[in-house]
Amino acid sequence: LRPNPLIAAVAAPPIAAARGWVAGRAFPADRPLIDLTQAVPGHPPPADLAAHLAARAGDPDVHRYTDILGLPALRAAHAARLSTAYGAEVSAAAVGIVAGCNQAFCLAMMALARAGDEVILPTPWYFNHRMWLDMLGVTAVPLPFRPEAAGVPAVADAARLIGPRTRAIVLVTPNNPTGAVYPPGVLRAFRALARERGIAMVIDETYKDFLAPGAGPHGLFAESDWADGLVQLYSFSKVYALTGHRVGSVVAGPALLAEIEKIMDCVGICAPHLGQIAALYGIRELDPWVAANGTDMRARADAFAAGLVRIGGWRLVSIGAYFAYVAHPWAELTAEAAARRLVDGWAVLSLPGSMFGPDQERFLRLAFANVSDEIVPEVIRRLADAAA
Ligand SMILES: Cc1ncc(COP(=O)(O)O)c(C=O)c1O
Repeated sequence: LRPNPLIAAVAAPPIAAARGWVAGRAFPADRPLIDLTQAVPGHPPPADLAAHLAARAGDPDVHRYTDILGLPALRAAHAARLSTAYGAEVSAAAVGIVAGCNQAFCLAMMALARAGDEVILPTPWYFNHRMWLDMLGVTAVPLPFRPEAAGVPAVADAARLIGPRTRAIVLVTPNNPTGAVYPPGVLRAFRALARERGIAMVIDETYKDFLAPGAGPHGLFAESDWADGLVQLYSFSKVYALTGHRVGSVVAGPALLAEIEKIMDCVGICAPHLGQIAALYGIRELDPWVAANGTDMRARADAFAAGLVRIGGWRLVSIGAYFAYVAHPWAELTAEAAARRLVDGWAVLSLPGSMFGPDQERFLRLAFANVSDEIVPEVIRRLADAAA
């Protein structure tokens, strides 16, 4: 049996690979493993959401397929939410509900590009984006990392990379892995470039709900031609702590969404019905919970950043609600060797920058949102010890 060589050439899922370094290993009781690999909320969803799902589970209808692009009520509620947030007109017809933001990316890329085409990805990239492009035979063109600009990529660099096979540029803001937030003016300039060069701009806003209130949304949906070339990807996973329910969205103009609907029909038929009900409940009922949670997460990020700066040895490149992207203290080591040294010596499991693209050997990603507030000082203590 010969598997598809495009798939076989892709490395194993990175988080599982990193967890494999410590599989079966016992850590001492006074220094248990602290796992900072995966961006999952460290808390469960609120109890009233769980109770709502339990109550709805008795209805035979919730175990059936929904429309391919999701429950009409959820599409409408999400569209209304986006319209308010961005000061724009986003219609329910522009919203597709899918099985998570990873799937949203897969669908959007498959609808936009074919084997031999190119898609520009800023480095460090979200590894699943790169993996999917590789699987499609689409070339991921790396846009250089600018640690000196807190990880915000340069439009001029992107302009130089666009060629006849370029189909899209993908931006993730707030970013994974760096946490960087791209300013609205930068996003506007990327969109202007994409428009001028006839390529799509795909923006993954999985972490947008964790921005500080008043951080100022981008104005891309308020531009009258947004539906011609702008695609937004979003996740309900993080905002309502629903990672296992698999529900996200893709917002696009009608022509592209019609193509996405065909692909979705084949790969999923629809997003999980109960997950959609959970997302709808979240939109209708959970604003106060989301706001309080966002405040807590930003406080944790501030504490983490302050701790890192205080101890020295680790240079903070950028930080968001979920991740810190840091230069590790061991210039002589590769990123993987540094990550292994950190877990072997201090029981802190992180992801090496090299999992996120080229030229990332100096960096580690620490997904501190995984741990509770009480653990943050312990992480900082161990990082200080490691750098000493
Ligand atoms: C940038 C980004 N996009 C998408 C996802 C996946 O989200 P979902 O759970 O909705 O598939 C993640 C999760 O870590 C992410 O960081």
